[in-house]
Amino acid sequence: MLNLQGFEVNENQKTCLDNYFFMKEEIKAYNNVLELIGNTPLVKLNKVTENLEGNFYAKVEAFNPGHSTKDRIAIYIIEEAERQGILSPGDTIIETTSGNTGFSIAMVSIIKGYNCILAVSSKSSRDKIDMLRSMGAKVYVCPAHVSADDERSYYMVAKRLHEETKGSVYINQYFNQLNVDAHYKSTGPEIWEQTNGKITHLIACSGTGGTISGTAKFLKEKNPNIKILGVDAFGSVLKKYHETKEFDANEIYPYRIEGLGKNLIPTATDFELIDKFIKVTDEESAHATREIAKTEGLFVGYTSGAVLQAIRQYAEEGEFDANSNVIAIFPDHGSRYMSKVFSDDWMNEQGFFDSVNLEEAQKIEFIK
Ligand SMILES: Cc1ncc(COP(=O)(O)O)c(C=O)c1O
Repeated sequence: MLNLQGFEVNENQKTCLDNYFFMKEEIKAYNNVLELIGNTPLVKLNKVTENLEGNFYAKVEAFNPGHSTKDRIAIYIIEEAERQGILSPGDTIIETTSGNTGFSIAMVSIIKGYNCILAVSSKSSRDKIDMLRSMGAKVYVCPAHVSADDERSYYMVAKRLHEETKGSVYINQYFNQLNVDAHYKSTGPEIWEQTNGKITHLIACSGTGGTISGTAKFLKEKNPNIKILGVDAFGSVLKKYHETKEFDANEIYPYRIEGLGKNLIPTATDFELIDKFIKVTDEESAHATREIAKTEGLFVGYTSGAVLQAIRQYAEEGEFDANSNVIAIFPDHGSRYMSKVFSDDWMNEQGFFDSVNLEEAQKIEFIK
C-alpha cells in the first residue's frame, strides 16, 4: 500500500495513519481548566534590563489558568491528599492566603467538588477578596498587623476553622513540604528544559519559600553552580534569618507588597539552597511593576516588579556578566492590583508619585 507521499507503508504504519486522520477529525479541547496548569512560557526581558550585563528571561506564571504560580501547588497538594485518601468529594479545603493560593484552591475545588474556606489578610486588595468570593469561596478577612500567634491572625483563624469543620483539610502552605515538592516536580524541570540547562541564575521572591526552594532544589541537583537569588521585603525577617539564623522581631514592620517576605520563618523555605537575599522597597517595586507593563507589554503583579527591582540591585553588586542567563519568576497577573500599583490614586496616597508623575497621571481626558 502507498501512503500520501507515495511511500510503501506496512499494516502497523497504516493503523497509525488511520488513527492520525481520525484524530484530526476530533475537537481539540482540554477536559477542564486544570489541564492548563504549568508549562508557562519564558519571555525575554528587553527594555527593562537593556543597561544590564547578561540575558534576562521572565517565567511568566500569569499564564496559568488561575493567573499565578499558586495553581501549581493547589493542584499538587490536593491531588496528593486524594492519593493518600485524606480528601473525598464534598470535603472542605481550608487555607490562609494573601489571595493567589486561595484563588487557585477555589478553582481546583470547583472542578473536583470540594468546599473552600479561606482566611485572608486585611492587607489583600479588595480585587483579590472579590475574586475569591466570585470563585465560590467563603472568605474570612483577618487583621494584617497582629502577631502570628494572635487568635485573630489568619494562621490562627484557619487553624480554628479546621478544628471546627468536620471532613476538612488545612493546606498550611507555609509549613507544608508538598508546597516545595510541587515546584521541584514542575517549575524546576520546566526551567531546566526551557533553557537547555543554560540557566546560570534563578531569581525569585520568597513568601512561603515554596517556589524558590522547590525550583532551586531541582536546578541545583542538575547543576550545583546555578546561583539562587532570593528577594525579600523591608519589614520582613527572611534576609536576616538567612544570614544569621536569628529570628529578629525588630525587623518586622508593615509594608505594602503582598506575597513577598514574612513575619515568621516558614518551614517551606530551604534557606540552605538560597545563596543570597536582597531587600526591595515598596516604592521602587511599585514603579518597576508599572514599568514592566509600559515597556515590555507584560501586565504582571507587584512582586514581579519587586523581582525586577532586585535584578537591578543584584546587577549593581556585580552579580551578573555578559554570559549570565538569568531566569526571573514573575509570580502573577497585573489585574489583581488595579486598586493598588496600577491605581494612580493609590500610588499618590502612598507618596510614590513626585510632581512629575502626578502630572502625568492626571492627563486622562474625559469627554463630556
Ligand atoms: C504575588 C506573589 N508573589 C510571590 C509569592 C511568593 O511565592 P512563595 O510563597 O512560593 O515563596 C507569593 C506567595 O504568596 C505571591 O502571592
